[in-house]
Amino acid sequence: MEQNKVIEEGRQGEALHQPTRGGSKKLFLESYGCQMNFSDSEIVAAILSKEGYSTTQTMEDADLIFVNTCAIRENAENKVRQRLQDYRKAKRNNPNMVIGVLGCMAERLKSKFLEEEKLVDIVVGPDAYRDLPNLIEQAEGGQKAVNVILSKEETYADIAPVRLDKNGVSAFVSIMRGCDNMCSFCVVPFTRGRERSRDPESIVKECREAFEAGYREVTLLGQNVDSYLFSGGGLKKEILTEEQRAAATNFAQLLEKVALIHPDLRVRYSTSHPKDMTDEVLHVMARYDNICKYIHLPVQSGNSKVLTDMNRGYSREWYLSRIDSIRRIMPECGISTDIITGFCGETDEEHLDTIRLMETVKYDYAFMFMYSERPKTLAERRFKDDVPEEIKKSRLTAVVNLQQKHSEERIKAQIGKVHRVLVEGPSKRSNAMLMGRNTQNTVLVFPKGQFKSGDYVNVLATSGTAATLIGEVVN
Ligand code: 5AD
Ligand code: SF4
Repeated sequence: MEQNKVIEEGRQGEALHQPTRGGSKKLFLESYGCQMNFSDSEIVAAILSKEGYSTTQTMEDADLIFVNTCAIRENAENKVRQRLQDYRKAKRNNPNMVIGVLGCMAERLKSKFLEEEKLVDIVVGPDAYRDLPNLIEQAEGGQKAVNVILSKEETYADIAPVRLDKNGVSAFVSIMRGCDNMCSFCVVPFTRGRERSRDPESIVKECREAFEAGYREVTLLGQNVDSYLFSGGGLKKEILTEEQRAAATNFAQLLEKVALIHPDLRVRYSTSHPKDMTDEVLHVMARYDNICKYIHLPVQSGNSKVLTDMNRGYSREWYLSRIDSIRRIMPECGISTDIITGFCGETDEEHLDTIRLMETVKYDYAFMFMYSERPKTLAERRFKDDVPEEIKKSRLTAVVNLQQKHSEERIKAQIGKVHRVLVEGPSKRSNAMLMGRNTQNTVLVFPKGQFKSGDYVNVLATSGTAATLIGEVVN
């Protein structure tokens, strides 16, 4: 079951129901997809709380239903379409209810959405959330409302998010938006627009406020954090002079600024890009105990020809040299990845290169997907989606099984050691147990004792399951 979840949904596609907060009008807000969507939903909640909305967990009571959508694979979109049927039922008993589609799917389908899915009243792309109060007013007046304009500047830097996480311990903080990479399989550059970095001062301020509100971990989010560069004055990266570039804040410097807020504030980030990840970032990570020793470094394929077709900007050898750097600078670092099976033209031998690369790296964790052709992407225009579904599936099974084996080995290697764990809350299975993560992002479960969410505890790992360590506190 767990395994299927990874195959079908991975990091993206999970629905998160946001808990209740503030005001008198009721907003039911669901987020599908990546952490960035979750973080965007917190911006949406902040904009709407000024309009008197509070979030509810009961769809039937809502004045407004918003779904923040993901377009990364076809099944992510199908899931949202199914969900729209549930909203349709809720609206039958409450005809004044307004239904809005937000995010990547809204951006991809634009006004077509209003024609195709007749029950939708509002369609809003990821850069247009400031316009929500207007759009809601239009929809309440009986008009259909759309804003899917992408921006080159919008970072929502000045908006303090309404935190919607469940544990009050880990907060997501967006540091940039959009993506300029144009990986040939990926729809994100079309749905989220051009890359732009957010002012570091506003990022540090948001992280500090989270710490002061009791949060003990921030995850800095961007599609490609290694490409973060803020130069002030709204200057685009491409036109910077050498001098301006040297004076700008890069990701390594930003990471350090956030780490310096407080030693008890853990810092994580996602996602790295192998073509841009610098040793400077790795050295900053090594220098600060509170920067977690964990890197998500998507490889996508272990074959250089497939990587070229994917337009990833690196070869197998380059990727492995980045892994060597991580292991050299931080031998204890946890590493995870994303893998796509059955990309256009992928042969058995090319697939085996991915298997061999996995054997070499031995990832702690991986998110694995079958290739899903997306409209408008470079791959859709240039290549044939010619690997049969059964082969995509059998290759996926092969990588999933191998990863399962590696994850178990990595878990076993951590048994018998003491781990510094940030407590996130009760474990899924029992209220008498707590769960938290070590710096490598491995989940540990242990008896509750006197401890609570937000505490740091030292846990001796005594045994392990496929994905979790079990232990006892040795403070
Ligand atoms: N098909 C399958 N997987 C995809 N991803 C992105 N686009 C596609 C696609 N068209 C995967 C990549 C990426 C992760 C977020 O989703 O592995 O790293
Ligand atoms: Fe998509 Fe590539 Fe950008 Fe990631 S780096 S969002 S895979 S285009």
